[in-house]
Amino acid sequence: MRTRDRLLLLMLGTVWLGLPGCSSTPTDPPEEGPRYDGGPVSWHRDVLPIVQERCQGCHTQNGVAPFALETYGESSRMHAVLADSVRTRRMPPWMPAEGPHRFRDSRRLTQGEVDILSAWSEQGAPEGDPQDAPAPREPAPPLAWTDLTIGPEEPYLPKDTASDDYHCFLLDPHLTQRRDLIGFEVMPGAKQQVHHVLLFAAPRQAALQRDAREAEPGWTCFGDSGIGGASLLGAWAPGSPPTSYPEGTGVRVAADAVFVMQVHYNISQRQAGTVTAMHGEAQPDLTRMALQFAREPVSKLASLYPLVDAEFSIPPGATGYTHHTEQYVPAGTLWGVLPHMHTKGRRIQVEQGGERLVEIPAWDFHWQQMYFYKQPVRVPLFSQMKLSCTWDNPTSRTVTWGEGTDDEMCLAYLYMTE
Ligand code: HEC
Repeated sequence: MRTRDRLLLLMLGTVWLGLPGCSSTPTDPPEEGPRYDGGPVSWHRDVLPIVQERCQGCHTQNGVAPFALETYGESSRMHAVLADSVRTRRMPPWMPAEGPHRFRDSRRLTQGEVDILSAWSEQGAPEGDPQDAPAPREPAPPLAWTDLTIGPEEPYLPKDTASDDYHCFLLDPHLTQRRDLIGFEVMPGAKQQVHHVLLFAAPRQAALQRDAREAEPGWTCFGDSGIGGASLLGAWAPGSPPTSYPEGTGVRVAADAVFVMQVHYNISQRQAGTVTAMHGEAQPDLTRMALQFAREPVSKLASLYPLVDAEFSIPPGATGYTHHTEQYVPAGTLWGVLPHMHTKGRRIQVEQGGERLVEIPAWDFHWQQMYFYKQPVRVPLFSQMKLSCTWDNPTSRTVTWGEGTDDEMCLAYLYMTE
C-alpha cells in the first residue's frame, strides 16, 4: 500500500525528540461570552450580536446557507426553528465533540448564547429598540499579508448532471526556491455552490501528467487529489476564517512543487427555512487562493503525518460497522488534526493512550476541515495512536479503501512538529 510505505518512511525519518512545556491535561478557563440573566431579551440588543458573530459567516444574501439571517424580519419569521437548530446543535455546523482538548476557532455556541436565543424565541421573538443594535458585522480579518494569489485561468462550469461535482485544479506558484507556507486563504467564486476546498502540494511532473489526461483544465477527483506523492495542506469550508498554521510552524513547499486545489461544488437550490434541496443550475466559478509564506524559515517545520486504516471491508447493508487500527507515531508535538472519511462515514475518533484527541460523533463529508488545538498536545516517545471509524453501507456491495465516490477512507492527518 502506497500510503503505508510513506508512513514507514516518515516514521524512520523522524527524529525521536520529546518536547517539554506542552501540557497534556489542559484546564479550561470558565466559559466566556454572554450569559442569560433570566430577563426579557430583544433582537437588537441581545440576539443580533450573536447572530452576527455566529451565523452571518454563512447566512447572508448569496452565502452558502440557503437563507439570510441579517434582518429582524428574516430571523423572527423562523424564530422557532432557529432556536431549535441551536438547542440541538445542528447549527452552527461544527463536527468535533467536546473533549479533553479544545480547538481554536470553534463554532460551537456557548451555553449562554444558546440560552439567549432560546429565551428570545420563547418570549415571542421581540424586536426591541434599533438604537441598541451593534454596528454591522465586520468580515473575518484577512491574513496580515499574502505573497501570491493563484487560481485557474478560466472560470469553470461545474457539471450539473448530478448535484455534486468534485474538481481538481492544478495551480502553479512558479516558485524559484523552496518556501515555508504558514497560511492560506480561499476566495470562493460562486459562493452558493462552493461547498468545500481541499488543498494539496503535489510533485510537478505527476500533476502535469494527470492534468493532461483530460481535455478541459483540471480533472475530476474525489476525496483525494488522485496524484501519488501529493500531501494534504489543509481544508476549507464556507464560514471558516483564513487558515494560519500555529505560530512558529509551517509546511515546507519544494521549489518545483505545484498546488492542487480540489473544489466540491454542490449544485442544489435550497428553499428558505427547509433543508430539502432541489437540483439547481450550475454557475461558472472562479475560486482563487492567496498564499502566505514565512519571511524567515520557520523554527518548527511541520509535517502532515497520516494515520491510516486501509484494512477495513464494510459488508453490504451494514449499519454502524466499526474498524480500528493502532499505530506508533513519532514523538513530538501535535498541533492539529484533519479527520477524513467519505460519504458513508458516520463516526471517526483518534485516541492517544486512552485519551481522546478528536471525536466526530456525526461525520458529515461536507464540513470536513483541519482543527488546531488551543494548546498543542505532547506526543511522547513510543506513543500509540488508535484510529477508529464507523460506517453505514446502504449498498449491496462490500466497500473498501479507495479514492472513488463509492469507496471509503479512514484517515486522520496529524499536523506535527518535532
Ligand atoms: C458554516 C456555515 C454556517 C453557519 C456559521 C451557520 N449556518 Fe445555519 N445553515 C448552513 C447551511 C449550509 C444550511 C443548509 C442546510 C445544511 O446544509 O446543513 C443551514 C441551515 C440552517 C437552518 C435550517 C435547517 C435546520 O437545521 O434547522 C437553520 C434554522 C439555521 N441554519 C440556523 C443557523 C443559526 C441560528 C446559526 C448561528 C447561530 C447558523 N445557522 C450558523 C450553514 C451555516
